[in-house]
Order: sequence, then structure tokens, then C-alpha cells
Amino acid sequence: MTNSPPQNDPDALRRQILDLVERYHEAAYPERAFDPAGSPAPVSGRVFGASDMRNLVDSSLDFWLTTGRFNEAFEKRLGEFIGRRHVLSVNSGSSANLVALAGLTSHLHKDRALQPGDEFITCATGFPTTINPGILYGLVPVFVDVYIPTYNIDPDALEAAVSERTRAIMIAHTLGNPFNLDAVMALAKKHDLWVIEDCCDALGATWRGRHVGTYGDVGTLSFYPAHHITMGEGGAVFAQGGKVRRAMESIRDWGRDCYCAPGMDNTCGKRFEWKLGDLPRGYDHKYVYSHLGFNLKITDMQAAVGLSQLDRLPGFIKYRKRNFDHLKAGMKALEDIFILPEATPHSEPSWFGFPLTIRDDAPFAREDLLRHLNDHRIGTRLLFGSNLLRQPYMIGRPHRVAGALTNSETVVDQTFWIGVYPGLGEDEITWMLDQIHAFCAAQGKS
Ligand SMILES: Cc1ncc(COP(=O)(O)O)c(C=O)c1O
Repeated sequence: MTNSPPQNDPDALRRQILDLVERYHEAAYPERAFDPAGSPAPVSGRVFGASDMRNLVDSSLDFWLTTGRFNEAFEKRLGEFIGRRHVLSVNSGSSANLVALAGLTSHLHKDRALQPGDEFITCATGFPTTINPGILYGLVPVFVDVYIPTYNIDPDALEAAVSERTRAIMIAHTLGNPFNLDAVMALAKKHDLWVIEDCCDALGATWRGRHVGTYGDVGTLSFYPAHHITMGEGGAVFAQGGKVRRAMESIRDWGRDCYCAPGMDNTCGKRFEWKLGDLPRGYDHKYVYSHLGFNLKITDMQAAVGLSQLDRLPGFIKYRKRNFDHLKAGMKALEDIFILPEATPHSEPSWFGFPLTIRDDAPFAREDLLRHLNDHRIGTRLLFGSNLLRQPYMIGRPHRVAGALTNSETVVDQTFWIGVYPGLGEDEITWMLDQIHAFCAAQGKS
């Protein structure tokens, strides 16, 4: 007897392929115990299981390729998790920031639309693609200092950053630690400013019990492998307002006025009846472009992986918090050398990493410690671009600085972070702590 499916039954063949994929995953990616003599402790990485591989192959067998059933399910479930009506997947976190900012320049917002020359307030310390879309659209970034030890924009410096031209605030929740949303939203309300929350490193973080990204007009996410969930390359924008969504969707999808899903026609019921721009009446709505757009969509194979990763998300967030707490308890004895990270009051972070700042009077330089950790296969990262004004690409670009950037300068020379991602277990975290303690002891500090 053989249990092979009938040669011509695609459903049975699909089931057999997917069962084999699960067996492949088990054989090819067994769990490995940590070995202090050779295992790495990286800052981040993809964490995946048989269900993720199964979904990926399942979608490949559809051979739909562009966004389809998996993307539809992914956007819906992500929206339910965060608590936002509108979620649009895009092909990276950087694209999410681009779509979010570009969406606010839309004619749909009439005289509230962002214009070249308008200013947006941002944090001097961070990742470049939080601010790049604004610069690309001719807006002027206004840099405010970072606050240590939350590594978020200094809430006390916000008001002084506002000028006649200020129209928006675009900042990230650094390393999963929410910025002070009370202060930011109060400023936005007072001066009628748009708010874009870059949540690329903060999926699952909450402020006063509500997900970050749900306070501002738009929230953005990244699903690059280093992030809380992954689909390889990917991201999302989310919003509550229908007009904001409409503009972002158009910009993501070539700038088209039509909002049919891929493969669909005439969703509006007036495909050959519109009179728009200088086009003749009845010009096929599919080819009418009302925004300056791009194509920033994902494939359904990416969405399929994102969808199964969502099942793991609550566990991922829990492990990240557990690893953070373990590191913080283990670093307590070294507080005379390091400034330890702190959650912003009223927030529940979804930690992306564990940031440390070496105090001014420490008996060693950051690079000495990073080299030691690297020699012991412990990954480290700097706080992204740190003071972005110091980056080569920023030289000569229009900007304004509000107040001194003292802490941002400290971050340039003295801050770094180590991993908390779910691929790190108790053994890895203990190893990391042991190596930091050993290094400090060797410098005469323990
Ligand atoms: C705060 C922040 N925003 C945006 C991004 C860009 O995301 P992506 O790499 O998916 O383009 C990153 C990248 O890690 C980030 O840290």
C-alpha cells in the first residue's frame, strides 16, 4: 500500500507538500543549546518555525505572487492587534515612513496638506529614514535633543522647537521604548500639527495601555528580520482616518485614483464614467493618477510569513521583556560605569534592544568594550545614526536645531546596545552579562 495522493489531485498534493515542509523544518533547523565555546549571541535575527515555512510555501503554490489572500488576512489581523481600522502593508519600514509623510502632502487634506518649506519636529538621535521622507518632500527638519536614559526626544525641549512654519512631528519610539505621547500629543493639539509615530522598532509597545502609533495620525512598522516580527523585507502604515488611508494607498499603488485590489476591476462602479484632471470623460479609472506615487507593495509570500509570525508576536514581546529585565538586573552592580536604560513613565515598552551609555569617568573607551564583546561573539550596535546631523549625507541640507544637542553628542561617543531578541535564552544573556562584568573587572572595576 502506498499513501501517495492521486497524481492529479492538487489539494491532496498541496497537503503532502506542506506536511513535508514541516518535516523539513524539523530536520533542517533543530533547536541548538547555547555553547559558550562557540555560539554567537547576536543583537537580533529572524525567529521562525514550521508554520512560517509552511505558510511561505503555501503562498508560493498559489503562485499569485503580488498581494493577495495572505496580505488581506495579514492587514486585517495586524489592525485588530494594534487597534486601528486601516492597515496597509508596504515593502519596508523606510517605505512606510515615505508613504506616511507623502500621504500628508496629499491634496485631499486641502490647506492642512504639508508643503515644501514647512517644518517638522524630530529627534536628533535616531535612524535616518525617520527623517528622510520629510527632507525629500522639501520640508525642514527641526532637531531636538534626545533624553538619556529613555533615548527618546526630550519632552521639555519640544515647545521651544515650534515656529510659524511648524506643521508636523515625526519621531520614532526608540528601541521599543515609547516617547512621551502626552507631551507630543498636547503640543500637536495646541499647534494643529500632524503626528507620525515611527513604530518600526516598537511593535507591541503601549502608552497608558494603548498601542503606540494609535495616538498620532499615522503609525509605521518594519518587518525586516531584526524586528519584532519579520517577513524578510516589509513594513506597514496604519491609521484611523479614511482620508489619510486613501492618500497613502494611492501613493503606495503608483499614485492611482482607482482603489481596486490586484486582479479586480470596477470596484467604484464608475470605471468608465469619471472626469478627472485634463483627461477626457470616461478615461479608464484604472489609469488615472491623482497622486505622485510609487509601487511599494509586498508580495503575498512576504504577507504569508508575516501572518504566521503574528501568531508568535505575543510570545516574542514577552521574551524580549524577559531578556531586558534579566540584563537590567545583571547590570545593576555596574551602574557606576554605565547609565542603564529606563522605560518612559506611563509606558510598557516592547524592547528592541538594551541600550547602555558609558559614563564620562569610565576607565575605558566604548570601542575597547565593543571589541571585547565582539571577540566573545556578542553582537553590539550603535544607536543607529546617533546624532544625524553628523552623518555625511546631512552636510549642507536645510535644517534647524532647537536647543543644545548635548545628549545626542554623548550618544555619538558613549552609547551602544546589545540584544534582547527572542532567539536569546537565559544562557546567552548570562554569557553576555558575564563578559561585560569580566571586562569591567579587568579594567579595575567590578
Ligand atoms: C526607527 C526606525 N525607523 C525605520 C527603519 C527602517 O526600516 P526598514 O529597514 O524596514 O526600512 C528602522 C530600521 O531598523 C528603524 O530603526
